Amino acid sequence: MEIKIKRTPNEEKQSYNVDLENVTLLTLLNHIKTKIDPTLTYSHGCRSGICGSCAVRVNGREELMCTYKPSCGDTVEPIRYARVIRDLVVDSGSIDIFNRAGLAWSEGSREGNVEDEEMERIQTQSDCILCTSCASACPVYAVNPDFIGPFALTRVWRYVSDPRELSSHRKLAAVQTNGIWDCTLCGECVPVCPQNIAPVQDIRMLRTKSGRMGYNDPTMNFGGGLDFGSPIF
Ligand code: FES
Repeated sequence: MEIKIKRTPNEEKQSYNVDLENVTLLTLLNHIKTKIDPTLTYSHGCRSGICGSCAVRVNGREELMCTYKPSCGDTVEPIRYARVIRDLVVDSGSIDIFNRAGLAWSEGSREGNVEDEEMERIQTQSDCILCTSCASACPVYAVNPDFIGPFALTRVWRYVSDPRELSSHRKLAAVQTNGIWDCTLCGECVPVCPQNIAPVQDIRMLRTKSGRMGYNDPTMNFGGGLDFGSPIF
């Protein structure tokens, strides 16, 4: 099987011919690295779709190396909108930056029991493995590199809708700029998520909740006529 890999620093695609079939892309890259080209660089961890460290783009679509089965002629590139360190390895610092911008973590919990049903509602969002495939697929980063983006906004919704969370209002305030209103709702983030999360739906929910709290889409504020006033907390 022939496979092409985009290398740095020259950005050219290098072809490798490998006599392996029906294996994961990670197995194939391990073979290339150990038998053909020790300079090939990529990152991985768990090898089982859990740690999120092996996301790449194959033929223009985000995939996890440890679960994707390559075909002859595939082209593998690093994920988009992240600084490439070498070959398929990118700087994962954006994970921290966007989670911080959106306050995408628990800032304190209320005591008390929570119904199983309520926890089930946020289970899917809790399954995010931070592979950043959704961010790589998101066209908004091409025009706004400060966009808080799909994975962080999904995590924000997870905490905003957690009945125990004490700081939901602060989180909603944090995603009004470079956040929920910057999303185009195109849905490109959905099919690439290995955990079957739909960030665009979570962003819609954040918009609805924000509207109820008195926020509104800034692009709809024509001369102040549709400004519903200050947020209501
Ligand atoms: Fe952990 Fe692929 S190596 S998700």
